[in-house]
Amino acid sequence: MRDSHILTTENLSLSYGGFRAVDKVNLRVKPRTVHSVIGPNGAGKTSLFHCLTGGRRPTGGRILFKGEEITNRSAHARVGSGMARSFQITSLFQNLTVRENLRLASQGRDGNRSLLFWRSVNARKEHIELADSITERLGLAGKAAVAAGDLSHGQQRLLEVGMALCGKPELLLLDEPTAGMGVDDIPMMTKLIADLGKEYSVMLIEHNMGIVMAVSDTITVMSRGGVLVEGKPEEVRADPRVREAYLGKVA
Ligand SMILES: Nc1ncnc2c1ncn2[C@@H]1O[C@H](COP(=O)(O)OP(=O)(O)OP(=O)(O)O)[C@@H](O)[C@H]1O
Ligand SMILES: [Mg+2]
Repeated sequence: MRDSHILTTENLSLSYGGFRAVDKVNLRVKPRTVHSVIGPNGAGKTSLFHCLTGGRRPTGGRILFKGEEITNRSAHARVGSGMARSFQITSLFQNLTVRENLRLASQGRDGNRSLLFWRSVNARKEHIELADSITERLGLAGKAAVAAGDLSHGQQRLLEVGMALCGKPELLLLDEPTAGMGVDDIPMMTKLIADLGKEYSVMLIEHNMGIVMAVSDTITVMSRGGVLVEGKPEEVRADPRVREAYLGKVA
């Protein structure tokens, strides 16, 4: 039977020297869901994402994306096959408008092909359409002509997610997309993530439990590099082991 999961890990491990930051993690991520990874500081969440995106080579185990092993593929090749992580604010062009940032990111997806002059007119149109539909989706249509640097912090973080969407990914990895956001901007991001989970597969690392409980289909709780508990939001919320991990008794 064909694996119906978009992403699977088998005993995935990452050591920094002798320290196991990710310890035999088995994950199965279903298509078109929001799958969150939570856990106390230092649990290994970001390290896990580094392995998934190709930023770090795992020291053990395997990663399968759409049924194919990608454990040793480069980060670039993973992006090409449909995986994206959200950019950092530092990767936005502060002086360019929201629309221009998104158009450049859409163009980047085509690589050198977009330089071929006989493709350029159609391609340009496609890029503009994609950029505009993403602007709309981010709820930033009214800000399309505003320089990225003039957006609020929260709006810049929405734009980062938008930049990742320009690659038309199937799996989107978001590491603390609301970090540093003001309370006023959080509902927009929450709505965006829930919305994206209907069309894409989203893996989310997030410390804000309100958001995690509201948007997740599945939650994996990590502690000390391993998986402590996995389940639906209500199952995870009710599990005493999760509370203990956060209180530091287990972690
Ligand atoms: N480059 C590194 N070299 C050595 N140890 C590291 C490195 N990066 C992370 N660690 C350690 O690995 C463990 C897991 O770190 P990681 O950043 O993955 O945790 P996290 O769950 O993302 O935490 P947070 O919630 O604070 O972001 C921590 O103990 C951390 O100190
Ligand atoms: Mg982290």
